[in-house]
Amino acid sequence: MTCWAIILAAGSGSRLAQAGLKTKKQFLELEGLPLFWHGAQTLARVARISGLVFVFPPDELQEAKARTADLLDGRPLNLPCRFAAGGARRQDSVFNGLALLPGDCDHVLVHDSARPFASPQLCNALIDALKGGAKAVIPALPVKDTIKRVLGTTVAQTLPRAELCAVQTPQAFDLATLRTAHAFCQEGHVSVTDDASMVETMGGEVAIVPGEEDNVKITTPEDLKMLTPKQAPSVAVTGWGYDVHKYGPGHPMVLGGVPIAGGPEIVAHSDGDVLLHALVDALLGCLGRGDIGEHFPDTDAAYAGIESSILVNEVLLLADQDGLVITHVDLTLICQTPKLAPHKAQIKSTVARLLQLEDRQVNVKATTEEGLGFTGQKKGIKAVACVTATRSA
Ligand code: CTP
Ligand code: MG
Repeated sequence: MTCWAIILAAGSGSRLAQAGLKTKKQFLELEGLPLFWHGAQTLARVARISGLVFVFPPDELQEAKARTADLLDGRPLNLPCRFAAGGARRQDSVFNGLALLPGDCDHVLVHDSARPFASPQLCNALIDALKGGAKAVIPALPVKDTIKRVLGTTVAQTLPRAELCAVQTPQAFDLATLRTAHAFCQEGHVSVTDDASMVETMGGEVAIVPGEEDNVKITTPEDLKMLTPKQAPSVAVTGWGYDVHKYGPGHPMVLGGVPIAGGPEIVAHSDGDVLLHALVDALLGCLGRGDIGEHFPDTDAAYAGIESSILVNEVLLLADQDGLVITHVDLTLICQTPKLAPHKAQIKSTVARLLQLEDRQVNVKATTEEGLGFTGQKKGIKAVACVTATRSA
């Protein structure tokens, strides 16, 4: 058995052009490579395929050949490649492709470049069916919707769903059978939308193998979203932070970047913003990058009196590098004095601004410890922060 494949890339993409798309769809890119090349790569992975015929629009043949030569330079397919100019109808393009098959070729797969997601497994299933003696074999999927024949705006008939399948490419043929079918249809002036229809037209049998849900055809503008890269898988992460500062002569109180007028002074190396310190630790927790002391040691003069929002900025740089997307921040301040209720709204919006989050993604709570412990004795303040985020898996 010598089996070649024809990659059809000679259409005009008129349905997409109507919606304003200038590039013919076979030349649109998916993951940086044109659609027709995705089909070529899939077919090249199938060991039982001996060569490829690319069919390009006649007026863009040279350009497309040059593009393919570049792609082959970068990633050789290690298969002989031939190039044909397409025709007016799809079947004319196939016909022109068939003309370029070498003399020893006896089987052929015909594939639409508009279906970039077909798998090598599907090609192998088709070739297995050919080896089993099928003269024509195509991928088919049972339809899920009820299909009706519609005339104008009125239903003419409901078709029996159990008998209906949607069919895909690649379609695989005994070469002599497909050539005969082409001749038959040319003589009868029969126009078709897939290759199997030609074999059916001359009364030939067409077998099916299970199609693939993912093997969709890019046809209308709605289909273009399938070409946008799938989001990298991500995992949810949680970081927790805790910090304490002592009251005493030092820095004026700042919480979450907001000066608290009349609040007790804070003993600290930096500006003593207990809430932002807890937040930095929670962010580092999400990143799996240790704690605030490792990154900004309180023995380092560079951080003397530093505004803690600058530390947040620094950690957010790391977060960006690691692809961390913060989804929510929950903060709790714990102290007996000062009263924090009047400041909570401003702290919330300041933290939201620092993290570039919406207000609803930040929550600020305040509580006392009922006179107990060092906060109860008004000796200091503590804060806890919980950050939830996603990062690439
Ligand atoms: N095709 C081709 N030669 C043609 C028509 C179509 O090689 N004269 C190819 C297309 O490039 C496509 C495949 O056949 O990969 C399936 O055709 P279709 O989805 O109809 O694509 P277009 O004909 O390009 O689009 P449209 O029908 O919207 O004009
Ligand atoms: Mg078409």
